[in-house]
Amino acid sequence: MSRRDPLAYLGAELESLKQQGLYRQLRVLEAEQTPTTTFDHRRVVNLSSNNYLGLTTHPLLRERALQATRDLGVGTGSVRTIAGTMAIHVELEQRLAAFKNTEAVVVFQSGFAANAGTVSAILTKDDVVVSDELNHASIVDGCRLSRAAIKVFPHKDVRQARAILASLPHSQRKLLITDGVFSMDGDLGPLPELCALAEEFDAVMMVDDAHASGVFGRNGRGTIDHFGMHGRVDIQVGTLSKAIGVLGGYVAGSRSLIEFLQHRARPFLFSTSHPPGVAAACIAALDVLEQEPQIIERLWENTRFFKSGLDRLGFNTGASESPITPVIVGDGALAMTLSDRLFAKGVFAQGIAFPTVARDKARVRTIVTATHSKDELQFALDVFTSVGRELGII
Ligand SMILES: Cc1ncc(COP(=O)(O)O)c(C=O)c1O
Repeated sequence: MSRRDPLAYLGAELESLKQQGLYRQLRVLEAEQTPTTTFDHRRVVNLSSNNYLGLTTHPLLRERALQATRDLGVGTGSVRTIAGTMAIHVELEQRLAAFKNTEAVVVFQSGFAANAGTVSAILTKDDVVVSDELNHASIVDGCRLSRAAIKVFPHKDVRQARAILASLPHSQRKLLITDGVFSMDGDLGPLPELCALAEEFDAVMMVDDAHASGVFGRNGRGTIDHFGMHGRVDIQVGTLSKAIGVLGGYVAGSRSLIEFLQHRARPFLFSTSHPPGVAAACIAALDVLEQEPQIIERLWENTRFFKSGLDRLGFNTGASESPITPVIVGDGALAMTLSDRLFAKGVFAQGIAFPTVARDKARVRTIVTATHSKDELQFALDVFTSVGRELGII
């Protein structure tokens, strides 16, 4: 007897996405993640990666990953809490703790796992999270998993955050949480004001610095360093998958926080640790940040050049303060058309629409890296000019 497909409704959902012009094929990278590369058989200037410093292909990271693989193998064969903690994982955590100026660090398999695993571990259903409306999905999922009450404040609205905190019983445990750099808009969380609120209302302060590590602060130490907030943020999350160029996430904080997470954070307990090559490449990335801080300066020079170019052309780049520069067009289908036309002319800038951003704030998102040349960026600006005019955006 033939069985009716119980997943047929998914096909209907996909059909609806196609009709709205929001269906996306995954673009396939056929070469290295570099400033000019090949996606879907086309050479393009790549403005879509989070490879801020070009470390995905840095010779030192490549060499250390190969060496660790030769010496230690390709996998760990276990979760961290059983047999999967290698000396190289411990070394990476010690290096990150020194980098972030905290007592200790625990590394997770991804930034997503670090956020979701941490928030869900430290809160219970009796607690409350006070969270910026644009915080990353991994924070949102962690909040849901914790079963704590979730109170969302409008983006960067410190007054509203304060009003929420003031309305809560003093005895209730509270977590105040923000992204350091918001991933779709490239603006910064108001850390000084939020830290002051956390102190006033006795809340735990947590910052997700995924897009800030390697980009802001001395040698890329992140927004806590940028704003001079050392000692005032209880939980710092970072990723090893963006500026660091490899894969993973981490939590930096007090030794008791880190030991607690080693006992209770479910991605740490129930998922296998990084291959040694990953840990070795991350350590090499920290060496690069210490020894070649000029690459961070190049990232900022390129950011200023490209952002001011887009602004001069008349594009709406929102409130970005970082190398993430959105080109906001509003309508989802228009954003996808803009992205497709740019791609056809040799520039890859991903279109982003609902539910990743609000329905009327669809955009293409651009990220320059330290390793783009001025010629590549000028070429991208020229293509933006011609496609923007073609579509009546500028
Ligand atoms: C703000 C933010 N936090 C966390 C993450 C997750 O990091 P990872 O890619 O390492 O899982 C991302 C990545 O998309 C992000 O943008």
